[in-house]
Amino acid sequence: MSQTLRILVLHGPNLNLLGTREPEVYGHTTLSQIDAALVALAKDLDCEVETLQSNHEGVLIDRIQQARDTADGIVINPAGLTHSSVSLRDALAATDLPVVEVHLSNVFAREPFRHHSFVSGVAAGVISGFGPQSYDLGLRAIVSRLR
Ligand code: DQA
Repeated sequence: MSQTLRILVLHGPNLNLLGTREPEVYGHTTLSQIDAALVALAKDLDCEVETLQSNHEGVLIDRIQQARDTADGIVINPAGLTHSSVSLRDALAATDLPVVEVHLSNVFAREPFRHHSFVSGVAAGVISGFGPQSYDLGLRAIVSRLR
């Protein structure tokens, strides 16, 4: 019998503010609503999700390091760290797990500094621009990659 897939979903800095943060860019859905929808979708997809949001790069990196032993894949919205963090990229590369990078907004339609991602080069793929549905698509993508 195959084991249930365990997916770690990580949210980077400022995503705790979703719902009130620049709603014209990020919409009105809160992070708890996104997490609840992911847990419901995980049931349909017959997998488990664990979610974590942190405003601290080191907390995210510590969790990514543990994921090697506790998860089968990672869905991550690195938020602002996307465009700045070599360390986050290195941590993701070191896990050797498949990674899907997600963004609520279409980063390529925004300011030029958002067009570069340190994470994309170690990701299986990137989903950007579909609002909360980006996470839904990200979970579906990683599960189908793993099966
Ligand atoms: C974001 C896009 C990033 O450029 C930004 O810094 C975020 C959110 C998104 O989900 O659209 O914090 O990752």
